[in-house]
Amino acid sequence: MAGIYLHIPFCKQRCTYCDFHFSTNFGSYRKELIAALCREIELRKAEIQTEIQTIYFGGGTPSLLENAELSLILATIRENYIVSETAEISLEANPEDVCEEKLAHWKKEGVNRLSIGLQSFKESDMQWMNRAHLASDGEKSVRLAQKLGFENITVDLIYGLPQLTKEEWKKHLELVTSLGISHISAYCLTVEPKTALHHQVKHNQLVTADEDTQSEQFELMVDFLKTKGFEQYEISNFAKNEQYSKHNSAYWQSVHYIGIGPSAHSFNGKQRRWNISNNSVYYKNVGVNDSWFTIENLSENEQWNELFLTGLRTKWGVSKKAIESLNSFTKAEFNLLENYISDGSMIETTSSFILSDAGKIRADGIASSFFRI
Ligand SMILES: C[S@@+](CC[C@H](N)C(=O)[O-])C[C@H]1O[C@@H](n2cnc3c(N)ncnc32)[C@H](O)[C@@H]1O
Ligand code: SF4
Repeated sequence: MAGIYLHIPFCKQRCTYCDFHFSTNFGSYRKELIAALCREIELRKAEIQTEIQTIYFGGGTPSLLENAELSLILATIRENYIVSETAEISLEANPEDVCEEKLAHWKKEGVNRLSIGLQSFKESDMQWMNRAHLASDGEKSVRLAQKLGFENITVDLIYGLPQLTKEEWKKHLELVTSLGISHISAYCLTVEPKTALHHQVKHNQLVTADEDTQSEQFELMVDFLKTKGFEQYEISNFAKNEQYSKHNSAYWQSVHYIGIGPSAHSFNGKQRRWNISNNSVYYKNVGVNDSWFTIENLSENEQWNELFLTGLRTKWGVSKKAIESLNSFTKAEFNLLENYISDGSMIETTSSFILSDAGKIRADGIASSFFRI
């Protein structure tokens, strides 16, 4: 089992909070960049011998791909890899790009899961986020995708926004659960360095929600979504009827994947690799197959840290088998584990250690307390 992630590094506008890799000025080289993506797909075919179960178009904004570009990328993958007939093929779409013509093309090409970036239902949020769509476009895009026959739809929301009240967040959750979708990803706003949001906060032009407000909105979301039949299978991800993201679940359980495109990451169990985060250097260097990625061998300590960081965020937890394979707990780590179990933050199952609902609120802190340096 393996997966392919494709990073499409184009966006219409720069959202104030976003530090993902993308460019808003790509018209002059988009052809070269798409050609480089296809070349990387070809160059790396020897890395994966097993069937591809998941393909994920992320970004940036994959819904900005022209129909012919998407077809070319998928055809190149199918020519060079064995793609399972039941593969999950996901595409991140921004509401302003969702139209009947594109939806029909995505469906024809085998895209069977859409991730639509709603972010908020409040019109004024769209402006300060510098989103390229109206809040009302979010719901319209979901309805249109459903009309065109997409059954596996997830949406992204952000909470912890400045001025988002508890009542408004509850309303957003009510609205999102009325859409008839099976999956929701909801992220707490983070202030990333070098973003416009960071600049505003640093110059006291904006005050973000404090930790208590963020925790309150997180708890409200977990409780509310549970009453609507959504299972929290990862800290920020909720699914109905086990309609988990196969791609992300595999990633969280350390299944091998290759990441294609500028800034994309890859993982093969022992090594992490990341591509250069510069569009023109990427396409030029892929063209001559030279210096466009860095490889890092993960030390046993890094594998251990990764295990806790990703594992503890999921319902599958950290497997006992994986812990054993990395020399098991030291005495100090075992004491730490026992403390978390006795204070109700962690739970032991037959095959793993997982976080309780109370533990999930401080997932990253608990994971990092197990880190080996
Ligand atoms: C990088 S975006 C790509 C998807 C698509 N371009 C979009 O805007 O919907 C993936 C998701 O990460 C989330 N995200 C990005 N930066 C964030 C931040 N600083 N804080 C919280 N969520 C963030 C947003 O919800 C976004 O939908
Ligand atoms: S949130 Fe999405 S659309 Fe906005 S800049 Fe980031 S990747 Fe682009």
